[in-house]
Amino acid sequence: MKPSSLQDSLKPIVALAKRRGFIYPGSDIYGGFANTYSFGPYGAALKKNIKDLWWKMFVQERRDMVGMDGPILLHPRAWLASGHLEGFNDALIDCRACKARFRCDHLIEETLSIGADGMALSEMNELIRERKVKCPKCGAADFTEARNFNLMFSTHMSKTGHEGDVAYLRPETAQAIFLDFKNIIDTMRVKVPFGVAQIGKAFRNEITPGNFIFRVVEFEQMEIEYFIREADWETLFEDWLATMHRWCERIGLSKGRVHEKEHPKEQLSHYSKRTVDLVYDFPFGRSELYGLAYRTDFDLKRHAEFSGCNLEYTDPETREKYIPHVLEPTFGVERTILALLCDAYDEEQLENGEMRTVLHFAPRIAPVKAAVFPLMKKEMLVERAREIFASLKGLWNCEYDESGAIGKRYRRQDELGTPYCITVDFDTLENGTVTLRDRDSMQQERVPANQLIEILNTKILF
Ligand code: GAP
Repeated sequence: MKPSSLQDSLKPIVALAKRRGFIYPGSDIYGGFANTYSFGPYGAALKKNIKDLWWKMFVQERRDMVGMDGPILLHPRAWLASGHLEGFNDALIDCRACKARFRCDHLIEETLSIGADGMALSEMNELIRERKVKCPKCGAADFTEARNFNLMFSTHMSKTGHEGDVAYLRPETAQAIFLDFKNIIDTMRVKVPFGVAQIGKAFRNEITPGNFIFRVVEFEQMEIEYFIREADWETLFEDWLATMHRWCERIGLSKGRVHEKEHPKEQLSHYSKRTVDLVYDFPFGRSELYGLAYRTDFDLKRHAEFSGCNLEYTDPETREKYIPHVLEPTFGVERTILALLCDAYDEEQLENGEMRTVLHFAPRIAPVKAAVFPLMKKEMLVERAREIFASLKGLWNCEYDESGAIGKRYRRQDELGTPYCITVDFDTLENGTVTLRDRDSMQQERVPANQLIEILNTKILF
């Protein structure tokens, strides 16, 4: 639905992602399957590095956080309690002429340049009728009435065989944390303020404008529910915003491309009293990357009510009982990957006039940390290069490559975002040094092969 020029801005990144084994269209051999993608070998490695670093920063390095891994299928009443069954909807509208389906707010934004986030159904229908909005696909001005569609995917549990046994794939990981709040306070020695972190899949039956992996139907979230006293929410909200910015810096996103966007009161989700998004300057425009919401005590109160279970926390010192309030920093994995690809992607003209495509990933998240090459396919060089590769591959994801001209091998690693290339040449056999090439400066320095682990260790810094 977006004008093609906006989608075109992503084209070189989409092409590189496929060509170099980062991201493939889902079910590719069947012609694709709407809004699904597969992460190839380098995409999977990048994803794993992001998730590992996130876990390290938000669980391992903190004393106030614990991690968990809850189920995708939760008790159906949980979605009634959370408000998703009633309120987690998108207004969709169909073109009668070509049968194309659109998100109504997106259609209005694109065709009339009017912000329609949070607009009532009746208002949107009236605007589309009055302004004779044309279908961006076929040009007809013949739309159905906009209707609300729930975004949750449903499935059936076969435990009883009854038709009514509907279960939902979770549209956010957050609820799994709320459902285990009691188990966690009963089994772990946590003390408010504390947080529970989780990384996992979420599913939303979304109509998307096709900005690659920006909005997909199956994605991963890295979420934290941070349990606090109500009185502390404003101070801790600011702390979390600052921490989220620190995360963006740690993964190497350019500071100038990450901004804050406050949600106006009338557009807040049903559970939120304040939400600030971290938005990123994607090639198709400034859009949501992450979010920080103050969910109050909405979720725990509702689950207490719907489950009949007491979800109060008892202060270990004062014995005061209360339902904690919640701050929720939430991070999408796919959006992290898209922002990193956009940030890192560069086409550079070299001194000899050639072009090189390069991904300037921060070494700590790069899918391949180092590549080892013999200068030529000569037995002695190959043997030494393989030895060096063997000494590194247990520590980092590294590659060995002996095929083709050395310049081509460098270019391939540049496109993968590999920060360091190590070349074994005839001097290596004489004096034990190798060349270490830096991806960004393309400078090479000679370093002793037996110090490579130490040198790379200080450069990569996880
Ligand atoms: N628990 C709160 C929550 O789910 P959200 O803003 O709807 O809030 C959180 O989603 C994050 O999940 C977003 O900031 C974004 O990074 C990611 N996300 C949401 N929907 C997505 C989709 N359809 N495709 C990819 N990522 C998505």
